[in-house]
Amino acid sequence: MSNQFDVAVIGAGAAGMMCASVAGQNGRKVVLIDHATRLAEKIRISGGGRCNFTNLYAGPQNYLSENPHFCKSALSRYTPQDFLALMKRYRIAWHEKHKGQLFCDHSAEQIIDMLKAECDHGHVAWRMPCKVEAIAREGERFVIGTDGGSILAKHLVIATGGLSIPKIGATDFAFRIAKQFGLKLVEPRPGLVPLTFDNAGWQPFVPLAGISLEVGIETGEKKSRTQFREDLLFTHRGLSGPAVLQISSFWKPGTALTLDLVPEVDVAQTLIEGKTTIKKNLGNILAQWLPSRLADGLLQANGFQPDARIADLPDKQLRKLGEALNRWVIVPNGSEGYKKAEVTCGGVDTRELSQQSMMAAKVPGLHFIGEAVDVTGWLGGYNFQWAWASGVAAALSI
Ligand code: FDA
Repeated sequence: MSNQFDVAVIGAGAAGMMCASVAGQNGRKVVLIDHATRLAEKIRISGGGRCNFTNLYAGPQNYLSENPHFCKSALSRYTPQDFLALMKRYRIAWHEKHKGQLFCDHSAEQIIDMLKAECDHGHVAWRMPCKVEAIAREGERFVIGTDGGSILAKHLVIATGGLSIPKIGATDFAFRIAKQFGLKLVEPRPGLVPLTFDNAGWQPFVPLAGISLEVGIETGEKKSRTQFREDLLFTHRGLSGPAVLQISSFWKPGTALTLDLVPEVDVAQTLIEGKTTIKKNLGNILAQWLPSRLADGLLQANGFQPDARIADLPDKQLRKLGEALNRWVIVPNGSEGYKKAEVTCGGVDTRELSQQSMMAAKVPGLHFIGEAVDVTGWLGGYNFQWAWASGVAAALSI
């Protein structure tokens, strides 16, 4: 078995398989190395088992990075339509769910099988499961010491992802290699993650666990305010659902979130104007807009009786209630962390990498792709699109 390759890719996830297959099909001799026993677990569990594999509207505006321009080149050279063309060749059926999010009709396994077949088509050699023990640069080559012997390669592509979900094999390998070669990191932090609240302060909301509703949610200073309109989910420990996952990547510890629980209605104005005409009690009025368990819970949490009549309440009180529903300001005390986060924000600093080739300027031949890089997508298929696009960008440059 030869141990000399043009390209060694470490990490056989979304970005690594895409990169290895394209480089292999371009005539490069490629080896793909992964420590896991099961291939591409994150693809398998993604999208509830159906993999939200891209987003029709993916563009640079859907990514967080200290350099928002970095992702432009790769994303424009490998688009959602390119991935759909690949899926068409494998006759994988898909559907659009919501806001351009594309899912497999049947199973995420189909995406894994497709990428594996593409690697086979490129004659990619596999080392899996295989533990990488050390990496050194000798002259123009990298020497990769593994528990199965040394591998030599002119190009080394690090595609080992971020820190999210350690129990399925996530490690800080990419960050360690970046540091070993003197590359800067943007401090990693959990992204697309449920947020938690102070135990005592959250007690009034614990009975609301399981309730879901569409809300407006925002965070940040006036100039850099980020907003989403998505579903919110109450949990025993805090808040989750797409609204909170989206905002969590932008949220800074110690700062507040503002939620509009009734985004279609100016609650204070409607209540004040309805004082003479609306005969229902507060609980029944709010239940028109909110799940009734939530309406009662929020009224009680804000010191209102659900059976109070609005005609009996001063305007000041109704304004206070409107504020509580249209501008609910809360300060999370943290997040559920990497064990629940869908992604890792931060990572290898893009200022160290070429946006064309994903190669480190300081270390010719060393590339970083996928989630390991400081480019993090919103929820909705954007992270896989970055994995495909950055993998292709590196492969085409080698
Ligand atoms: P990825 O994590 O896919 O692959 C890294 C590979 O490196 C793994 O195979 C791992 O075993 C290997 N590895 C790690 N350390 C190693 C080491 N030390 N030595 C050797 N190998 C090592 N995104 C999206 O767009 N749509 C979606 O539907 C979802 N859904 C989703 C659900 C859940 C539960 C999670 C946790 C995440 C998602 N995501 C998502 C995010 C998406 O899965 C993620 O961004 C991509 O998989 C990142 O692709 P990478 O190839 O960079 O890393």
